[in-house]
Amino acid sequence: MENHSLLSFIVALLGFLSPSLTKLTPRISFHLGSSGRHLTHFSSHDVSNTTMLLLSQDGDMLYVGARDAVLALDVSHKDAIILRSKLDWSPSDKDLEQCSMKGKRMADCPNFIRVLHFLNNSYIYACGTFAFSPRCTYINSETLEMSIKPDEGRGRCPYDPYQRNTAIIVDGELYTGTVADYRGNRPVISRHLGRRVDLKLDDTLGWLEDPTFISSSFIAEQEKIYFFFSEVGKEYDFIDKFIVSRVSQVCMSDIGGQRTLQRRWTTFAKAQLLCQADNELPYNVIQDIDSLPPAEGAPADDTLFYGIFTSQWSVNSGRSAVCSFRLSDIKTVFSGNYKVLNRDTLQWSTRVQEKVANPGECGLHNASDNALRFVKENFLADESVRSVGKSLSMVSTEHNYTHLTVQRVQAANNRGYTVLFLLTESGYLHKTVLLQSGAHIIEEIQVFERPQPIKSLKLSIPKSVIYVGTSEGVVRVPTANCSFYWTCAQCVLARDPFCGWDPVHRACVEASDTQTNLGQDIDGGHVEGICNSVSVIHRARFGPNKLPAGELVSVSLNEVVRLQCPAVSRLSLQLWERPNSRLSSDLYLNLEDGSLSFVATPATLGHYLCLSTENGYQQIMAIYHVKQRNNAMAQTPISYIQPQTQPIPTTQIAASPGLHTYVRTFSKRPGARQGETEPTLSSRDTQVTTRQMGRNMTLWTEKSRQNETDFQNGESLLLARGPCYLKELVVVSILLGLCFSFLMTTCLYIIKQRCRSRTAPQPGTPTRDPDRRTPVEQEALRGSQFLSNCNGQAPHSGQASGLVCNRILAGYKGHLPNTPI
Ligand SMILES: *[C@@H]1O[C@H](CO)[C@@H](O)[C@H](O)[C@H]1NC(C)=O
Ligand SMILES: *[C@@H]1O[C@H](CO)[C@@H](O)[C@H](O)[C@H]1NC(C)=O
Ligand SMILES: *[C@@H]1O[C@H](CO)[C@@H](O)[C@H](O)[C@H]1NC(C)=O
Ligand SMILES: *[C@@H]1O[C@H](CO)[C@@H](O)[C@H](O)[C@H]1NC(C)=O
Ligand SMILES: *[C@@H]1O[C@H](CO)[C@@H](O)[C@H](O)[C@H]1NC(C)=O
Ligand SMILES: *[C@@H]1O[C@H](CO)[C@@H](O)[C@H](O)[C@H]1NC(C)=O
Ligand SMILES: *[C@@H]1O[C@H](CO)[C@@H](O)[C@H](O)[C@H]1NC(C)=O
Repeated sequence: MENHSLLSFIVALLGFLSPSLTKLTPRISFHLGSSGRHLTHFSSHDVSNTTMLLLSQDGDMLYVGARDAVLALDVSHKDAIILRSKLDWSPSDKDLEQCSMKGKRMADCPNFIRVLHFLNNSYIYACGTFAFSPRCTYINSETLEMSIKPDEGRGRCPYDPYQRNTAIIVDGELYTGTVADYRGNRPVISRHLGRRVDLKLDDTLGWLEDPTFISSSFIAEQEKIYFFFSEVGKEYDFIDKFIVSRVSQVCMSDIGGQRTLQRRWTTFAKAQLLCQADNELPYNVIQDIDSLPPAEGAPADDTLFYGIFTSQWSVNSGRSAVCSFRLSDIKTVFSGNYKVLNRDTLQWSTRVQEKVANPGECGLHNASDNALRFVKENFLADESVRSVGKSLSMVSTEHNYTHLTVQRVQAANNRGYTVLFLLTESGYLHKTVLLQSGAHIIEEIQVFERPQPIKSLKLSIPKSVIYVGTSEGVVRVPTANCSFYWTCAQCVLARDPFCGWDPVHRACVEASDTQTNLGQDIDGGHVEGICNSVSVIHRARFGPNKLPAGELVSVSLNEVVRLQCPAVSRLSLQLWERPNSRLSSDLYLNLEDGSLSFVATPATLGHYLCLSTENGYQQIMAIYHVKQRNNAMAQTPISYIQPQTQPIPTTQIAASPGLHTYVRTFSKRPGARQGETEPTLSSRDTQVTTRQMGRNMTLWTEKSRQNETDFQNGESLLLARGPCYLKELVVVSILLGLCFSFLMTTCLYIIKQRCRSRTAPQPGTPTRDPDRRTPVEQEALRGSQFLSNCNGQAPHSGQASGLVCNRILAGYKGHLPNTPI
């Protein structure tokens, strides 16, 4: 028996630990509409399929490319997004008719905006699919008026709204990667709008192989444009359709060759991006990538690119990896050797060839024909660009990330931390900090409900917000809400580089606020030492003279009792304890939501406390005193079964507020009735109960700040306030002593019973042992159905946690001893 329970404990522990090693669980979840995270929505019945987001320089105006429309949204107000102007840009009925005559679905024929960039201070350049006949136009950024004559969209914008493309405008010139034909099989990377010749790819040798364009980036220091995409890796011809991720480059100074490579890039080169951990299959399909500029004062070579990668193989399906690539590594690969293409067979080899030119080098446009021919055939770098540290920044086994944006955040210790905002397919934004020890998901925020196909993500660092384009409109998400963390311990455990504990104002505040001595431990998340509060694990455990009353739970014997304990975060582990005794798994059932369930018997009456442990920091979440209901008590109903009509004033997260309240309650009742040994709590005061919040963080933060000052350091008030309530403590001590002796007696009784039942089994007349559950009891405890039924049938219990099922288990009454000894 003993061995068995030890084993099951270990198994349970391993079961708990192993997913926490491999699974990345967001510490806190904010669901849609949660008050902990105010999202500002913009939507309008005639705005849908938001595909492009463009922020003005000052970050006060957000331009949105949607279906058949371009909008200018005023985002300078804190609490609202206001529509300034709207440009309708839809195909005519004739265009739509032609589109559907070509066999396209009507739903795909509108004009989906796919290019939206500033051309100069006063003009925006926009392109759309326009009924499978792409068009571009100049839009006045003040008035949102369109120039009269639309531009040709071919080669700048895809025909098909489901094809991905990328575009960037540098110095008034548009660099794009897209398919340039109706059927979608002529991919190009090209340059337009300049006073120089337009350039495009030479398409005789297959410089691109069925690519999916992801992103493009301008590196000013190098005067180069980088394109990111995935394509079929023809160099791996032994695997059928092996997809590889690529980075490619062109130089801004390129004007094409004079005879060879006329009007074609002379500086195009591409290389494989490898997101792969040692001895594992690569995550070969790039989904999104964002650049992180170097820290202030660091060279441009330290620019990093963070990308989301998924795998082509089913082994890794449903997983996403994040890899980072350093610009200096990309440069090294492009200036190294190139693979050689056999012109006749179109097969690649790494045969060493005399180098006539350096492919990828800028300024080759007036090189010799011979050199240009060499460049034309040698465009695939021999080496791959490996991710930084040849490792993955993070892997998620359960989320399909589709978009990301990255920011370096200066923490209180002056170190810069990389924070990723990752959007999942199912509509959650994961805010993740990359640490030496691995990725830590600080929080997840639900930004939309239904999974959606095309989304866009835009970070505004000066305004500390992120914009998400959804099918209904735009959502604005603040990058942090430090005031959500209401205690020092919570502030530190969050490990959010944006937030630190201000010991003077006793609040969790934004770290950027030129604050110096903020309490923060991003790397370790160790509370002690920062909050000068001590984890309860290091305190003396509750000795008889330290035990507070706890919340009173009156029960009748044989009732199923369920005590609840709120979770501080999804990373915390809830643990139930009784003073001086272990919770045997024979009698107690730890339910999945952290609550404890048991049948009220004389042996199970008494005190219970719920401890929450996170990252080595332990705090008391709840204290209950389970007591047998007597007649005197019955006449003064206990609040937790009273209807709670008025709003609940406070909530208890850390134990301390609760304790404090109880202690205060004692003192408020000077004239305790004679013979009433337990201090009853007035109904108003017992409303301080732990309520089951599940993952809904909304409720308990809202209510938790009222007596903040008393517990914000996580300091238990037990010791500090103990002496003031000496009388009560004495009473409690005596009670505890009684409890203890009662327990001892019960134990002796049990042992005796067990011996007897072992020596003299009496099959016909079952001896009822209070320490053993009958199958019926077991079932009653296990059946959560039953418990929830109870829940439903106890309307008065409301949100009170010490839920007592008032339905006495059928058939028990006659059997269970009401007074055992
Ligand atoms: C931050 O959290 C607090 C507490 O939950 C809430 O009252 C406040 O409205 C939140 N602020 C924002 C901007 O989300
Ligand atoms: C436009 O949005 C609707 C609704 O979300 C979606 O079903 C449709 O596929 C979207 N169209 C495109 C081209 O993304
Ligand atoms: C911006 O570009 C447009 C279109 O090329 C041009 O007409 C306009 O003069 C430019 N404005 C400025 C301020 O350069
Ligand atoms: C992730 O994507 C894979 C394949 O597209 C799919 O099977 C899986 O259900 C997705 N997972 C989630 C959590 O959306
Ligand atoms: C190379 O081309 C540039 C124009 O881009 C020209 O000024 C220069 O003289 C040319 N150099 C040679 C060696 O032809
Ligand atoms: C979270 O709590 C709020 C406020 O009581 C409630 O409206 C909402 O339905 C809850 N959400 C979930 C997912 O439980
Ligand atoms: C907080 O506690 C103080 C006593 O410490 C009390 O006077 C005050 O009313 C309490 N505030 C609330 C909102 O309960």
